[in-house]
Amino acid sequence: MRTWFRTKTIEDSIRDTEEPGRGLHKSLSALDLTVFGVGVVIGTGIFVLTGQVAKTMAGPSTALAFVVAGVVCGLAALCYAEFASTLPVAGSAYTFSYASLGEFPAWIIGWDLILELALGCAVVAVGWSGYVRSLLDNAGWHLPQSLSGTTDETGFGFDLLAFLLVLLLTGVLVAGMKLSARLTQAVVAIKVGVVLVVIIAGAFLIDGDNYKPFVPPSEGSTGAKAGLGAPLVQLMFGYEPTTFGVMGIFTAAAVVFFAFIGFDVVATAAEETRNPQRDMPRGIMGSLAICTMLYVAVSIVVTGMQKYTELTVEAPLADAFKSTGHPFWAGLISFGAAVGLITVCMILLMGQSRVFFAMSRDGLLPQLFSRVHPRFRTPYRSTVLLGVVVAVVAGFTSISELAELVNIGTLFAFVVVALGVIILRRTRPDLPRAFRTPLVPVLPAVSVLASLWLMLNLPAETWVRFGGWMVLGLLLYVLYGRSHSRMQGE
Ligand code: ALA
Repeated sequence: MRTWFRTKTIEDSIRDTEEPGRGLHKSLSALDLTVFGVGVVIGTGIFVLTGQVAKTMAGPSTALAFVVAGVVCGLAALCYAEFASTLPVAGSAYTFSYASLGEFPAWIIGWDLILELALGCAVVAVGWSGYVRSLLDNAGWHLPQSLSGTTDETGFGFDLLAFLLVLLLTGVLVAGMKLSARLTQAVVAIKVGVVLVVIIAGAFLIDGDNYKPFVPPSEGSTGAKAGLGAPLVQLMFGYEPTTFGVMGIFTAAAVVFFAFIGFDVVATAAEETRNPQRDMPRGIMGSLAICTMLYVAVSIVVTGMQKYTELTVEAPLADAFKSTGHPFWAGLISFGAAVGLITVCMILLMGQSRVFFAMSRDGLLPQLFSRVHPRFRTPYRSTVLLGVVVAVVAGFTSISELAELVNIGTLFAFVVVALGVIILRRTRPDLPRAFRTPLVPVLPAVSVLASLWLMLNLPAETWVRFGGWMVLGLLLYVLYGRSHSRMQGE
């Protein structure tokens, strides 16, 4: 049982990155990381989920849900920043927990991150394909239903566009980090520009009456939100499940949390950062701060433009402009969203291949995946394998419940990272930490509680699915990882 908690020393983690043929190229700066962060963070969450959440869970108080989710992420970010600036190696929370909590917790986290990033990428690819189809429709081109993805109304269809997007991005990632970073910068500029258009142009179209009531009164849940579809916290305490009201803000926060996913992915690029000790905390905190401000502003504007009950769930930002008689802005926003979602998809894909790469380098997954490409110096095998899997998932799956599963996985990783900060301060107080989380152990403890609280606000069925994925991970560790680990025999 002791082997389950063997830890990999910080020095070993750093040394592995220096092994010939297994090190990544160091080329990123703090600005690259911030752009990278904003590039992945702003996506389906704000462009798609805002409308859904305002309409069904929180009304105009969706802005408060973004604040709640932003605070939870901010606390976690302060913990991530300490870890990332102490351990500049690929793999994010996985690597951090290997050094602090032990091999088995690290495996669990790595397995969990693969769920977060792979499904997150698939969700975004499907969202992107919806926007592109709507633009194609405007131009008079219609894809046949059988190639237009799966929805509740139309039934099954293969999502050709989402499938092709993921394959294309896999190729870009294999070709090299620098190319991807440049592409990211251009796309991020368009995406942030479109979000600013929503905020500035939309501010002139606000009707104050739409904010009444700001927190809609709570009402009983029916249909998909009753039974196992209700938040676990309501079932645990035996409440009659409700939506809206003050509790609705937290239910909404647990969903819009998806909009923040990605800032932790910045930490997965630590090994490719020129000066991680200084630039990593700046990159993480900078991108998080920018995104929180934009989200709150967008949700205030959109729920002010259109009554929350009338918002649409597919393209709420663009449709709010259509409903106020501004089709030009609506088209521009759809275009920006379609372009912007590409970077989100790409960075999630990259983060995921890096976690897989790190796990393989440690022997917990087959080592053939940790060879870097002789010319591009990218982990091409893990990138291609996961790219193909995600492309297939994106092709065959619909968005809805996947986002909640991604959220629970990410929040779980936050809990482990925050615990890791406390443990590592005790076990390795000597390590140089370029960034120190303030108020340890109080702040990480509050971060743990805040993340757990959001997890409890997710539906019971999401917990069941998450449990299933984790049990599968446990079996894989017992049957493969434990005996193949490079720590075996040490
Ligand atoms: N935060 C990213 C999004 O909202 C994953 O699409």
